[in-house]
Amino acid sequence: MATQANPEAVLPAQGIEAPRSGRIDPKYLRSRTSRSNFEMMAWVFMRVSGAALVVLIFVHLWVNLMVGDGIHQIDFSFVAGKWANPVWQFWDLTMLWLAMLHGTNGMRTIINDYAEKDSTRAWLKAILYLSAAVIIILGTMVIFTFEPCLTDEAGNLLEGVAPEFCHGV
Ligand code: HEM
Repeated sequence: MATQANPEAVLPAQGIEAPRSGRIDPKYLRSRTSRSNFEMMAWVFMRVSGAALVVLIFVHLWVNLMVGDGIHQIDFSFVAGKWANPVWQFWDLTMLWLAMLHGTNGMRTIINDYAEKDSTRAWLKAILYLSAAVIIILGTMVIFTFEPCLTDEAGNLLEGVAPEFCHGV
């Protein structure tokens, strides 16, 4: 439902008004009317993506830091080995997209809450969306175009860098 300025608003409100009380200080009203339920969907998305991120991040940390040699195993060839498996490609892709969309939407909320000038809000959100898009696109490209078997100019595998499975290729 659209949030609208209530002429009966008692300002300043005593404490913080309950959401949807209608008694919202007009300086916090960011858009006059809205027929879409975008904000409700964004609210649900934060809860659903938050729950998914707990699982995604916990498994990510467990596999990288607790299994095998733990932190000592993390190097180029460890990452290459993981991304040779489509399951981890998909895992990392989902983590990237969800964390970026969740974090960006969270920052959008903070900007809407705290930046009072229309132009400041517009600029901050433009920068936010642009940087999120760059990171999502670059990250996605890296996951799918990653080359694990690096070679020198003569075509020989780079020793100590390329993972074991490259030697059989
Ligand atoms: C580990 C799992 C995570 C859970 C369970 C989680 C959960 C949540 C929830 C429920 C909210 C909404 C809070 C509200 O509306 O009052 C939120 C807000 C937010 N989250 Fe997450 N989150 C997680 C990870 C992340 C990550 C990885 C990032 C950064 C990339 C992030 C950045 C934010 C930001 C910036 C906000 C807005 C804070 C605010 O409104 O004050 N969160 N998170």
